[in-house]
Amino acid sequence: MAPKTKFDNIQLAAHVTKAMSNLYRLEYARISPGLKILQCSPNFSSIIDSGLQTNVVGESLPVVLPEFFGLEDVFHDIMRGKLPSHQLENVQRDSADGSIQYLTFNVLPFESGQAEDGLLLIVEDVTRFGQIEHALLQNRNELRLAQSTLAQVNADLDRRVEQRTAELEKANKFIVKQLVYMQALRANDLVILGATDLRIALKAITREVRTQLNVDSALILSFDQHALALETLAKSGIDLKTLPGRVRLGDGILGRTALERRIMAFPDFDRNKPEDYLFKAEDRVQAFYSLPLVSKGKIVGVLAIANQSPLNPDQGWLDFLESLAGQAAMAIDSIKSFEELQHSNLELSLAYSTTIEGWSHALDLRDRETKGHTQRVTDMTLKLARMAGLSQTDLGHIKHGALLHDIGKMGIPDNILLKEHDLTGEEWEIMRRHPIYAYEMLSPIEYLRSALDIPYCHHEKWDGTGYPRGLSGEKIPLAARLFAVVDVWDALRSDRPYRQGWSEDKVVEYIQSQSGTHFDPYAVDLFSRLLHDIIRDPDSES
Ligand code: C2E
Ligand code: SIN
Ligand code: SIN
Ligand code: FE
Ligand code: FE
Repeated sequence: MAPKTKFDNIQLAAHVTKAMSNLYRLEYARISPGLKILQCSPNFSSIIDSGLQTNVVGESLPVVLPEFFGLEDVFHDIMRGKLPSHQLENVQRDSADGSIQYLTFNVLPFESGQAEDGLLLIVEDVTRFGQIEHALLQNRNELRLAQSTLAQVNADLDRRVEQRTAELEKANKFIVKQLVYMQALRANDLVILGATDLRIALKAITREVRTQLNVDSALILSFDQHALALETLAKSGIDLKTLPGRVRLGDGILGRTALERRIMAFPDFDRNKPEDYLFKAEDRVQAFYSLPLVSKGKIVGVLAIANQSPLNPDQGWLDFLESLAGQAAMAIDSIKSFEELQHSNLELSLAYSTTIEGWSHALDLRDRETKGHTQRVTDMTLKLARMAGLSQTDLGHIKHGALLHDIGKMGIPDNILLKEHDLTGEEWEIMRRHPIYAYEMLSPIEYLRSALDIPYCHHEKWDGTGYPRGLSGEKIPLAARLFAVVDVWDALRSDRPYRQGWSEDKVVEYIQSQSGTHFDPYAVDLFSRLLHDIIRDPDSES
């Protein structure tokens, strides 16, 4: 039995060596104490210099492999057992076909470690790993660049959000100044990197994950902290039927990744399947990795990959996946900052509307207008505009325009504005400038430009005898034609420093008489219908 076993072991060793040599692309050589190549495996010559057909047996090792020049002392130490081994890793070689080859050399004592036994040299072709490592290195450099760009965008967005919040606080205090801010801020918005661009960046990241890591599917979900749920933001590759658009925090592998903030790795579901395995058979998912996306200490989402065959990743693969996750976390964080910014813009618009109303009230006070004049004409004009079928956007502009219709009177001195008698020719000239002043004040403000029709054109007349430009007919903006009727109606009913208010009947009669001369007949028509409705059903006025 004994001799046969020994014989089998030798055979076995030969088989294993051959198999391992094929599997790992290993070649070996026996080196004499004088560093000559004594024996070698069949492909040794070609692996150390592909294409080399000469037999290297009998050659000196440092001649065949110049990398070993100057290492004689090291080799003797290994032979005497002073050093266990020596390794040269990832030695680059240009092979005959022009491609780059990576070899790793291991020098060990041969058998017993006696000096006279010489050395064993094992050569491993690690080209495949070398190439991956090289590609990863390149990718990492690109990632670092993208990451620093994203970090800059993030910092910029954060700063803007902060800036906006501070401006919101100021908004109610500085009525006039704030209008100028608005213009500058609106201009800034145009250069901001939009959320849409960031979504495209996320899509690109999923594509990168999928192609670089060679998996079937990659997806990024963002975490909604109000709904406590994950929502798919971007995906690439095969469409998995199992994955719902929305995953509750803690549910399934994805939900647990976010809740527990740790990587969930399932390289092979056949070997290890979690209890909450949910995948449908048709998706044929065999491997699944899910990584938490954390930015500034907060969970912002999850990056997941799925593969239809088992995965056996090495450290480089995992590192790469993690750096892409870092990038995705930043992009999501940017999207969130951006959306926050838009929200604060909306708040600013609201604060701004409130400001305009406060401002128009202040104007009424200065003008010694009848209480509520501006609010009244604004409400009436909006009603006419609705009757005329104008859009919601137009109504917004009309509202602001009506509230500010006599803002130009801010440029008229008190002694004229508040005069208790008829105006002189010169005073009247000045008074007639108030629509031009309105234009000069409001037109630089982008936000109010569309609201200008009324302040600029409310004293134009249908027959072309009005001011400041003498426009006629439909050249006068519709909003201004509607407003003019309402403004005169309210002015005549009110006391003025230079005359008493007129009776309702007299006012209505006057308005009708001016149809086609001062006023657009259509506007007068709508206005008569409105007054008629209000008289019939006064409650509808509010
Ligand atoms: P307002 O008082 O708000 O009047 C707006 C418009 O209502 C006037 O535009 C005019 O079309 C009409 N309106 C007001 N009062 C009368 C009136 O007694 N008779 C007639 N037929 N229409 C009247 P208008 O004329 O372009 O005046 C613009 C602004 O100039 C007025 O705004 C008011 O602030 C001022 N203004 C006009 N006339 C006098 C005046 O005789 N004395 C003084 N102190 N201010 C005047
Ligand atoms: C791609 O990612 O390469 C194409 C788009 C997609 O997979 O959804
Ligand atoms: C808007 O920006 O939509 C409204 C602005 C305005 O009415 O002036
Ligand atoms: Fe006016
Ligand atoms: Fe007015």
